[in-house]
Amino acid sequence: MTLAWGIAATGRIARDVGTVIARHPEHRVAAVSSRALDRAQALATDLGAIAYGDHRAMIEDPAVQAVYVATPHSNHAEVAEIALAAGKAVLCEKPLTHSLSASERLVALSESTGTFLMEAMWMRFNPLVQLLVARLPELGSLRSVHASFGFVAPTDPSSRLWAAELGGGALLDLAVYTVDLARLLLGDPSAVTATGTLRADGVDEEQTLHLRFPSGAHALLDTSLVAKLPGTATVVGTHGSALLSPTFHAPTRLDLALRGQEPEVHELSDRRAGFVGEIEEVARCLREGRRDSTVAPQAQTLATSRVLEQARQQLHA
Ligand SMILES: NC(=O)c1ccc[n+]([C@@H]2O[C@H](COP(=O)([O-])OP(=O)(O)OC[C@H]3O[C@@H](n4cnc5c(N)ncnc54)[C@H](OP(=O)(O)O)[C@@H]3O)[C@@H](O)[C@H]2O)c1
Repeated sequence: MTLAWGIAATGRIARDVGTVIARHPEHRVAAVSSRALDRAQALATDLGAIAYGDHRAMIEDPAVQAVYVATPHSNHAEVAEIALAAGKAVLCEKPLTHSLSASERLVALSESTGTFLMEAMWMRFNPLVQLLVARLPELGSLRSVHASFGFVAPTDPSSRLWAAELGGGALLDLAVYTVDLARLLLGDPSAVTATGTLRADGVDEEQTLHLRFPSGAHALLDTSLVAKLPGTATVVGTHGSALLSPTFHAPTRLDLALRGQEPEVHELSDRRAGFVGEIEEVARCLREGRRDSTVAPQAQTLATSRVLEQARQQLHA
């Protein structure tokens, strides 16, 4: 059976993921919505869909079975709430919302309506990330995760990355990945320390998070919107280490160096594999009558959001 998607928004990621959906043999884009009909029409035409100049009208189209929310963070909750209330499955871009409390409300709505909700944490669906998780016991007792994600974001004041009212800043945009990776590998931290730089308008441009875990392991996580960072993740255990590259959140290479063994290199041809995995997960969950994913569970999304909230409070103290 083909899963029919409605895409809310027409920006960069809406087009990227929309294209993946449109090319997948078991998925199709039924509709695209925007605040402006002409923008919806431009993307809808390319994806073979119909266009709406209003998200609610698109969501209420009976042809739409699942809604992909790709508006700026600050607007995720509003669109996702309409979809959940209408009983439409929701795949919502990261971070699920701009705050822990708004994310908790969305999860509660998913529970009360019995409607599927998942954050589009595509990193968790990358086959090399999944391979690393499967091979983790071979690394022995994990001691550290060092990850970074940073680029020079153009100083365009209209960009959502710099707009305080749209949830701009490196923490919500980039640290959501580094923290989620650290938690995926090490569990919940017992202590979180954040230092960083805020702009005059309060938008955070870079930060370093230090997470301490009950096992004694730690994670050192650097994120920046003003400097290009390596983008890799190094995972070290008592029996070996792993390196996800060139970017840990969409890796195409996993190096494993296990004590006493030949080095292993695993490669992936398509960095967008995580996009395919996340839409296939939505279809699988709907087939199985689940309202939550086992790969990117709502509880994990909230736990990562909790760490980001702690970091945000320290950065703004
Ligand atoms: N998974 C990933 O790899 C990935 C990558 C990039 C971004 N993201 C996430 O996806 C979301 C969108 O990012 P993007 O890079 O695609 O952003 P973008 O290019 O700026 O596009 C966002 C779209 O949302 C709509 N929009 C803009 N301002 C809005 C507002 N004030 N209220 C409601 N809608 C508004 C616009 O569509 P209309 O004008 O047509 O309404 C715009 O095209 C963010 O939450 C981001 O974190 C994920």
